[in-house]
Amino acid sequence: MYGAVANDAVTVGSAERVQTGTAGIEERIAELLGQMTLAEKVGQMCQVNVGDSYIHDYLAEALKAGRVGSVLNEVSVDVVNELQRLAVEESRLGIPLLVGRDVIHGFRTVMPIPFAQAASWNPGVVRDGARVAAAEARRSGVNWTFAPMIDIARDPRWGRIAESLGEDPYLASVLGSAMVEGFQGDNLSGPGAIAACGKHFVGYGAAESGRDYATTNVPENEMRNVYLRPFGAAVDAGVATLMTSFSDIDGVPATANRRLVRDVLRGEWGFDGFVVSDWDSIRQLCIHGLTADDEGAAFEAARAGVDMEMHGDAYANHLERLVEAGRIDPGIIDTAAGNILRIKFRLGLFDNPYTDPDNVPNPLDAANTAKQAALESAVLLTNEHDVLPLDRGRLASLAVVGPLADAPRDQLGTWIFDGDPNLSITPLAAIETLLGDDVSIRHVPALATTRSRDVSGFDDAVSAAAAADAVLLFLGEEAILSGEAHSRADIGLPGAQAELVRQVREAGKPVVAVIMAGRPLTLANVVDNVDAILFTGHPGTMGGPAIADLVFGRASPAGKLPATFPRMVGQVPIYYAQKNTGKPPTPETVVMIDDIDPGADQLSTGLTAYHLDAGYTPLFAFGHGLSYTSFCYENIRCSRTELRLGNSLTISAELTNTGERAAVEVAQLYVRDLVGSVTRPVRELKGFCRVHLEPGESKTVEFALHTDDLAFYGRDNGYAAEPGEFYAWIGGSSAAELMTAFRIVE
Ligand code: BGC
Repeated sequence: MYGAVANDAVTVGSAERVQTGTAGIEERIAELLGQMTLAEKVGQMCQVNVGDSYIHDYLAEALKAGRVGSVLNEVSVDVVNELQRLAVEESRLGIPLLVGRDVIHGFRTVMPIPFAQAASWNPGVVRDGARVAAAEARRSGVNWTFAPMIDIARDPRWGRIAESLGEDPYLASVLGSAMVEGFQGDNLSGPGAIAACGKHFVGYGAAESGRDYATTNVPENEMRNVYLRPFGAAVDAGVATLMTSFSDIDGVPATANRRLVRDVLRGEWGFDGFVVSDWDSIRQLCIHGLTADDEGAAFEAARAGVDMEMHGDAYANHLERLVEAGRIDPGIIDTAAGNILRIKFRLGLFDNPYTDPDNVPNPLDAANTAKQAALESAVLLTNEHDVLPLDRGRLASLAVVGPLADAPRDQLGTWIFDGDPNLSITPLAAIETLLGDDVSIRHVPALATTRSRDVSGFDDAVSAAAAADAVLLFLGEEAILSGEAHSRADIGLPGAQAELVRQVREAGKPVVAVIMAGRPLTLANVVDNVDAILFTGHPGTMGGPAIADLVFGRASPAGKLPATFPRMVGQVPIYYAQKNTGKPPTPETVVMIDDIDPGADQLSTGLTAYHLDAGYTPLFAFGHGLSYTSFCYENIRCSRTELRLGNSLTISAELTNTGERAAVEVAQLYVRDLVGSVTRPVRELKGFCRVHLEPGESKTVEFALHTDDLAFYGRDNGYAAEPGEFYAWIGGSSAAELMTAFRIVE
């Protein structure tokens, strides 16, 4: 994946500039390490927060002394160039800086939040979004982003699900790798490429009760089969760096977790990039109660294999002494500094540490890329009587209601340090542009924010609804309700929004809800009171034009949910790839205390434990998403019903567009391994593809499956596929019913 630095005879630094010559990167690292003092090596392992476009004297001195390997949070290109100059021209060895920033889903131009991008099930969309973000960030001197976040997120209460690629390890692996490729390009030293960082290694998404930073307890088998998988895929895709998680994992916080960082990541996977701590998470080892002081924290983190400390001073203050006292092997420091230098070489920073913004081409049109991403990220959850798309030819008046119809900042979502709300085109603006003077539009926010409980604007909203031919309700969560340390216990619509829906409904007009949010919400009370729901996540800069195109049928939604939407929060965690119980419910054993359909048709698939008042199906299944047309799956076939380990088969089905519009369908393949040396999920996603079909057109969708694709970590954590019987489903969601079976023999 990486391009080697091609230039010969590299000259860096000033006084004792290092001639790193024509040798390959490993030789150049060794040569440089040979000239570095212990203090300079430790310096590479320290990252300093800048943040206010000002270089404090202490920072300038530290840079000159070679005591800083990286800075973060500086995006003024002039300041970044000056920081590089101090490091390169005024330090003894002239080692350039890594300049880090959270470029999570865009820089100036903001793409949909990652959770929404994941609903596109389109690696191309994710790759292009990251490519645009990388080029924009690179112009500011940033050469390293702290993304993608590839934590498996199975708890929608967790605020950081917004940054995630959803609940499924396969989907997150495919899309996370695409994001790495988008940021890093074909060649890390190419124009507009920046180093990516897979985070948070590992298990962070399993925070108890979804409370951010809370303890995680993930048994090793589940860790390997679920949480580690996207990280393995990112390493295979050439991710330059990884970040450890804040959380405690089974007693040893990730930042001190030698077993995971040193043994699995380095030992088993051979990762040769570097590992950065999360923000101050080394010193936080003391707060966790793992170590008594910062020195102990530095000791634990360095021994675990954390190469760089993000914004803390445990390494700067203690590592040298720990080495001199013989407590830390100098080899650990050499390896860490070498890992960091390797990425600097691969980025081409030794050849050119400076940024000329005019020399960073943007490979794609940023606004169009953002619009396409927003279009493909929208999921049509319900559409009673095909109320959508609205026919503008038959509309004389439209009510646009709700706190998110015209909220340029909130539509961008979480983690948009550099995102420019002035670039946002809101749904209201886009709808006005699209409809021009043909339709009279009345806009009533009704609530000042999504959290507001002040209902004084409701009468106005209801009268606008009564006077209109149709109502578009823009609801959800404002940006600050998701993201880091923004978890919620109640994941319904906040504030008085559900009441707004009820009152608007009483006006008796067709009502369409567009939901912008940072997480799956419990929407049972909304489903019953509106005719259609379009879930867009926070759709980013171009969310408005994308929504307008979808609502008025200039495009058909094709997004599919990357996580299960529960009926009620008490079902959480609820995800499709659950394990069976020893006592799966049958129609006879299911006792409901409320008027909820328990989902009896799911019983044949082995779905599993339930609540008396919620049943055992979610409100919307993983993979669910409607279209303006309809699709039919039939004739599922396996190319062979029996195969030996080491071979492949093809599973196919006929997919027909049975409606009247051309559209894209994301066809999905799920497999169940009936018996394993450890119990297996009732279904696992094994493939998906996007299929464009004209009305009436049929295509065969085919998935090639090698027995290696069915491998998992078994009883002794050995990784292998096991012989036995398998079920396979092809369909439009994880609740697909079209099923076949095959058998693997030894
Ligand atoms: C977050 C990281 C982020 C870092 C730097 C931390 O609080 O957990 O994901 O990259 O801050 O901003």
